[in-house]
Amino acid sequence: MYVGELLKSLDRAPSGVPGLDDLIGGGFLPGRVYLVVGPPGSGKTTLGIQFLMSGVKNGEKGLFVSLFENPKLITQDMLRYNFGLLGHVQAGKIVFNDFGQILFGAGRKFAWDELIKYLLEIIRKEEAKRVVIDSFNSLEYSVVDPENKRMALGKLMRKLHELDVTTLITSEMMSSESYTDEYYLTDGVIVLHHFMRNFQMVRALQVLKMRGVPHDSNLKRIRFTEEGIRVYPEAPF
Ligand SMILES: Nc1ncnc2c1ncn2[C@@H]1O[C@H](COP(=O)(O)OP(=O)(O)OP(=O)(O)O)[C@@H](O)[C@H]1O
Ligand SMILES: [Mg+2]
Repeated sequence: MYVGELLKSLDRAPSGVPGLDDLIGGGFLPGRVYLVVGPPGSGKTTLGIQFLMSGVKNGEKGLFVSLFENPKLITQDMLRYNFGLLGHVQAGKIVFNDFGQILFGAGRKFAWDELIKYLLEIIRKEEAKRVVIDSFNSLEYSVVDPENKRMALGKLMRKLHELDVTTLITSEMMSSESYTDEYYLTDGVIVLHHFMRNFQMVRALQVLKMRGVPHDSNLKRIRFTEEGIRVYPEAPF
């Protein structure tokens, strides 16, 4: 490996989420693949859009691959925040891909390898520097070979590392006690939590894992603001 390549690993890709970069030494490592996992409505998609918005500020094109939801509805929802998303979409700096058209349109199931090939084709074609894949576990319902998931994700990750795109993969949290392949294979894991405490809904973020980076892994309070998710340095309760 070249020294230049090794030194590049000292760079950081800001997450776009106020307060998050302070927990992870300044931001994500560029070119790595991260998992954002959480229960319904915990902020996975919002965090993904904030991440793409932040890339645009650095001149990096963003690609949002929606595996299940109609991207039109996602865009509509995200326009309710003060991100200024519309201008970037119109300028082609953030592109939405409707992968659901492939999944629902074919009227059949796919092999994992086929789906990974399609995903990589889209990412290569768009030449994006930041990619969000939302939500990865949706693919599990469309495959004929569920036993190949770990190999497929491993392959996708290797290719994404080669392409040098910084990627957020979102995933729905099935259980807080069991860890799916995504947790092990990705370079870092951010868990979004929401739970009831004293009859109050508590929202929190936790950096569960961040390879190569010392980080604070305690639960931190988050709030949804007009600028999206904001992380506060204190515990959520
Ligand atoms: N404009 C807004 N201002 C403040 N909070 C908002 C706004 N729009 C949505 N929210 C909050 O964000 C939550 C949804 O966030 P988001 O869609 O990112 O979650 P998600 O984890 O992707 O959900 P899902 O699992 O359904 O895909 C809503 O339930 C609401 O609490
Ligand atoms: Mg979502």
